[in-house]
Amino acid sequence: MKGIILAGGKGTRLYPTTIAVSKQLLPIYDKPLIYYPISTLLLAGIKDILIISTPDDIEQYIKLLGNGEKLGINFTYKVQDQPKGLAEAFILGEDFIGDDDVCLILGDNIFWGARLLELLQGAKNSNEHATIFGYPVANPTEFGVVEFDEAGNVLSLEEKPEKPKSKYAVPGLYFYDNSVIEIAKNIKPSPRGELEITAVNNEYLKRKQLKVQKLFRGIAWLDTGTASNMLRAGMFVETVQDRQGLYIACIEEIAWRQGFINDEQLRNIGTELKQTDYGKYILSLLDKE
Ligand code: G1P
Repeated sequence: MKGIILAGGKGTRLYPTTIAVSKQLLPIYDKPLIYYPISTLLLAGIKDILIISTPDDIEQYIKLLGNGEKLGINFTYKVQDQPKGLAEAFILGEDFIGDDDVCLILGDNIFWGARLLELLQGAKNSNEHATIFGYPVANPTEFGVVEFDEAGNVLSLEEKPEKPKSKYAVPGLYFYDNSVIEIAKNIKPSPRGELEITAVNNEYLKRKQLKVQKLFRGIAWLDTGTASNMLRAGMFVETVQDRQGLYIACIEEIAWRQGFINDEQLRNIGTELKQTDYGKYILSLLDKE
């Protein structure tokens, strides 16, 4: 399975902070926001990752992440000229996806919690055509919203409805089979001129090929849509890391635990960063084992 991280957009809700800097490069406590979706893909066991960003920002991502060799994985890059919608990722990524299945994660989505690994690997290894998730939120009007019947079957999906039919938002994490490329090519732009991911999901629903899995209560899906939410997400990460002594979204640690890199490669990365707590944490992993 291939992975795509969409890190485009203008980040207008965070202006002036994001006038000159891509939102997904801003820190959530001690690491750039994009580390969090990368960690989610690595936990799912996905090693081939396409990063899509704007013409202005793509070079910064390349500078930050390179070709992925250091983590034992592959990063490739693609420019999205205009913010034409999330579903355009599959059209831009057509060659990259090839004949494979694909997981799309939005560059500003943070997942953390109990049984996340099990959930991700389950979605990746299932035979479903499309797996997306439902997560109860207090502000569903700001998201894609999924409505279930009493038996848990999906009745409808709506993008940012004024009158949401449920409190279940659809997080920015989607697992699809290869037909997503053809589906993305055939959907029509929404009134706001975008190829909506909700239109893709509705097509799978129409084909009776959509599975919507409710996220367990023990999983945190953190919002980074506004300045307050970014601050809260940062405080959440700081609180957990300080209390447990275990880092969230340390992509070097995950690559090492997944066996993508060995002790020596991890030590080299930790040594480069050793003036920071982040680097010291990486080196401490080798002492403990
Ligand atoms: C996008 C999707 C929406 C989804 C959300 C998750 O919205 O269109 O369906 O619920 O991501 O973060 P955006 O925040 O890009 O407007």
